[in-house]
Amino acid sequence: MKSIVEAMQWRYATDKFLDTSIPTETLNTILEATRLSPSSMNFQPWKYISIQSPELREQIFEAGGKQEAIKAPTLLVLTIPNILTTHNVDNVVLAAAKARNADPSTLTGYRSMLQGFVDKTAPEKFFDWSRRQAYISLGVLLSTVAQLEVDAAPMEGFDAPRVNEILGLTDSSAVTLIGLGYRHPEDTHQSWPKVRFDMEEIFETR
Ligand SMILES: Cc1cc2nc3c(=O)[nH]c(=O)nc-3n(C[C@H](O)[C@H](O)[C@H](O)COP(=O)(O)O)c2cc1C
Repeated sequence: MKSIVEAMQWRYATDKFLDTSIPTETLNTILEATRLSPSSMNFQPWKYISIQSPELREQIFEAGGKQEAIKAPTLLVLTIPNILTTHNVDNVVLAAAKARNADPSTLTGYRSMLQGFVDKTAPEKFFDWSRRQAYISLGVLLSTVAQLEVDAAPMEGFDAPRVNEILGLTDSSAVTLIGLGYRHPEDTHQSWPKVRFDMEEIFETR
């Protein structure tokens, strides 16, 4: 297996994919690593929708400016809730109780902390907050696929309201499309040099 730095050098935002599907076991590893992503207060405000229907994919292709990568063998849509409510609090508390083999009623302190956050947050702030959390999981996904030598195309350039409409999303919204698969030898993007700021430009010591 490549080291993490080798994997991050190897990966690139893929434009054109082969038709080859990702083996189920590999896809499950990618999804499991993504599922294990951390988030603030453990709210996990994300849901990935795998697009299997050719009709839905075609409509998303149109809504995504006909980007070639939307034709990748696997297409995921990263969605986030529009707001957080007591329902989200309940879900987190129940998951914690299940994982710890505890009665949810014993987690009142944790519940109060989560509910306090929901109560004090202005509704229009939730979306940006959830997007920040969801992008942690997107980062985990992108580095996991690189280590597994699976190619990825994250895409923000699409008509989100239109994709929400296509998928019938009312309480949540699409924030990123992710094509996954294997690079086509004719994809010229793979030969582009990696463009990143130098270390001293992004890290400093004080
Ligand atoms: C969240 C996110 C959204 C992106 N959206 C698009 C997009 O809509 N279209 C596109 O061509 N590239 C998109 N990219 C690819 C970036 O332009 C690319 O990752 C960046 O230029 C660095 O190049 P590299 O990933 O090949 O190293 C996106 C990347 C990220 C992380």
